[in-house]
Amino acid sequence: MFGKRREFTPAVAPTPTDAAPLKVVAGNVQPAAAPVEDTRTSESQRAKAYYDLKREIFSALLETIDVAQLGNMEVEEARREVSGIANDILAAKKAVISTAVQEELVSDICDDVLGYGPLEPLLARDDISDIMVNGDNYIFIETGGKVTQTNIRFRDNSQLLNVCQRIVSQVGRRVDESSPICDARLPDGSRVNVIAPPLALEGPTLTIRRFKKDKLTLDQLVELGAITSEGAEILKIIGRVRCNILISGGTGSGKTTLLNCLTRYAESDERIITCEDSAELQLQQPHVVRLETRPPNIEGVGEITMRQLVKNCLRMRPERIIVGEVRGPEAFDLLQAMNTGHDGSMGTLHANSPREALSRLESMITMGGFSLPMKTVREMAVSSIDVIVQAARLRDGSRRITHITEVIGLEGDVPITQDLFVYDMMGEDAQGKIIGRHRSTGIGRPAFWDKARYYGEDERLTAALATAHASDS
Ligand SMILES: Nc1ncnc2c1ncn2[C@@H]1O[C@H](COP(=O)(O)OP(=O)(O)O)[C@@H](O)[C@H]1O
Ligand SMILES: [Mg+2]
Repeated sequence: MFGKRREFTPAVAPTPTDAAPLKVVAGNVQPAAAPVEDTRTSESQRAKAYYDLKREIFSALLETIDVAQLGNMEVEEARREVSGIANDILAAKKAVISTAVQEELVSDICDDVLGYGPLEPLLARDDISDIMVNGDNYIFIETGGKVTQTNIRFRDNSQLLNVCQRIVSQVGRRVDESSPICDARLPDGSRVNVIAPPLALEGPTLTIRRFKKDKLTLDQLVELGAITSEGAEILKIIGRVRCNILISGGTGSGKTTLLNCLTRYAESDERIITCEDSAELQLQQPHVVRLETRPPNIEGVGEITMRQLVKNCLRMRPERIIVGEVRGPEAFDLLQAMNTGHDGSMGTLHANSPREALSRLESMITMGGFSLPMKTVREMAVSSIDVIVQAARLRDGSRRITHITEVIGLEGDVPITQDLFVYDMMGEDAQGKIIGRHRSTGIGRPAFWDKARYYGEDERLTAALATAHASDS
C-alpha cells in the first residue's frame, strides 16, 4: 500500500508569537499551487474556473485587508467585513458569474479566511455526529450511525494542518512535529483530536466528535427503538430511587446519552457533582457542580486526572457523584463513594457485557496499584453497584439498550448478576436492518426493591415489571 501514502510537507509552523488566529489564517490563504479542493471530475472544468477566480480574489483581498484588525472583531462582523471587500473586488473585476456563484464564492472565501475552510459546510450540518479527516483527501462523516466518505477535500496537507492549527490554537496549543498530538474543543463544544505526521502517516489526521446541544431523552430513545416504553419506565425508577448505576458499552454506543437521560430523574434538591474529561452532560437540576479534568500543558505539567477530581469531589459534600467515563484508578474512588452513602452515583465504562463491565472495573483497580486482594476488590464492586445498563451499537448502526442487569452479590468468588430486561437479536431483514426484540425476564421483585420502597416507588416498580412481562407474552 505504499502508493497510497502521500508525501507530507509540514506547513511553516507559526512561531508562538505568530499564534494569533488571523496570522495563522494569513498563512493559510496564500494562493497555492494546486487549485482545487473538490475534485469531482464531472465538475472539474467549472471547478477550475471557480478556483482560479477564487485565488485571484484571495490575493487581492489579502492586499486590501488588515488581517490583524480582523482578529479583534466579532466573528459576524469580521465575516461582513471580508464578504463586503470580496464583493467589491469581484465587482471591480467585472467577472461574469451568476449571483448564486458569486454568493458561494464569497462565502467560500470567508470560510477560508475566518473559519475551518473545507470543513465549514460539514460543521454547519446538524445531522453529522463525527467528522474524520485522514489527510487532505479523505474526509469521512458519520450520520445516523453510518460512516460515509464525502467528496470534500483539502487543497493539500498544509492547508489541513493550518486548519488543525487554528482549531488547537483556541485552547492555547500548537501541533507540529515536536508535539504532534493534541486535544482541543471547538467553540460549540465539539471534541477534537489532532495527530500529525510523523506519527500519522496519511497526513494530519483530525477527528471531530460533534457536540449535540439537545441530548436525546429517554422518551426519544423509546421512539428510536433503543428500548421499549416499559424498559424506559424501569430505567426512570432506577434513576429516581438512587440506585448506583454503571453504564457499559462500546465507543459511540450511547453511554453518555444514557447517563444524561438517567440523571434527569434525580430530585431537583440533590447536590450532584459531575466529573468529566470534557463536559458533555447537561443536567437539568439547579444544584449541580460540573468538574473537568485537565490534560498536561505544552511543558507536560499541570495535569489534573479523573482520580484527583473524584477524590476531591468527596470533600465537596456531594449527594450523587457522576463520572462521565471511568477508565482507570478513579474506579476505586467511585466505588468507595457509592459505598459511603452517596447513593445514586453513576458512571460509564467501556465493556461489551454487564459481566465484562464488572471485571473491567476490577482490573482498573488492580492495575491502579492498590494492594488489595482480588476478593476484596470484587466484594467492593459487587456491593457498590446496583444496576448495570448495557448499551450497544449494532452492526446496522442502530443503538440499543441490550441489558438492564442487577448485581446481586458474590457466590464464592463469582459475582452473581440477574438480568431484568434484555434485547434478543433474531436476524436481519433484506436491507440489513437488525430484527430483534426487547423482553423482560419475568423477575417480579428485583434486589433494589427495598430502595424502591424507601422512595415510595415500589408499586410503580412492580407495575412496570408486570407490564413489561405481560407485553412480551
Ligand atoms: N438510541 C440512539 N439512537 C440514535 N442515536 C443515538 C442513540 N443513543 C445515542 N445516539 C447518538 O450516538 C452518538 C454517540 O452517543 P454517545 O452517548 O456519545 O456514545 P458513547 O458515550 O457511548 O461514546 C451521539 O451522537 C448520540 O446522539
Ligand atoms: Mg461518551
